[in-house]
Amino acid sequence: MMTGHDEFLQQFTITGGDFANAGLVSTKIKEILQELGIDPSIIRRAAIATYEAEMNVVMYAEKGTVTMDVTPDRLFFRFEDVGQGIEDVDLAMQEGFSTATDEMREMGFGAGMGLPNIKKNADSFSLSSTPGKGTLLDIGFFLDRKP
Ligand SMILES: Nc1ncnc2c1ncn2[C@@H]1O[C@H](COP(=O)(O)OP(=O)(O)OP(=O)(O)O)[C@@H](O)[C@H]1O
Ligand SMILES: [Mg+2]
Repeated sequence: MMTGHDEFLQQFTITGGDFANAGLVSTKIKEILQELGIDPSIIRRAAIATYEAEMNVVMYAEKGTVTMDVTPDRLFFRFEDVGQGIEDVDLAMQEGFSTATDEMREMGFGAGMGLPNIKKNADSFSLSSTPGKGTLLDIGFFLDRKP
């Protein structure tokens, strides 16, 4: 269990289009959270959110990084990618909206539920994008819910 002034910081890279390794970063994040003794119900939510965010970088960006920052009171993940970006963030947030290709749909992606699920599972959510440059997604989870 984390105590006092502990902070766990780690960065991972994600390669766009690399479906063979897709999901490995969020799996690694989940393992680290388990090792840190984080509450399983929070790990479940963080695992869903980080998997969906990782897949979006694989599917829609050229490359990206995830910065993981854990302190005793919160989990924080920053997904930063270089790629096509998102033209209309409000539209992208709508359930069912997807620009996934037929090939991606054949692999089971493209329901347009990733971003809404990330938002639903996280305690804090911030998505911003510059079309033609890339996308920045910040998600956070509170750990100390006791009053
Ligand atoms: N990192 C990103 N870079 C560029 N576009 C993105 C990125 N993340 C999401 N998008 C855009 O937002 C849309 C909606 O994303 P969302 O994750 O909700 O659905 P999806 O990835 O299309 O399908 P699903 O996640 O259900 O497999 C995507 O289809 C894509 O157009
Ligand atoms: Mg998605």
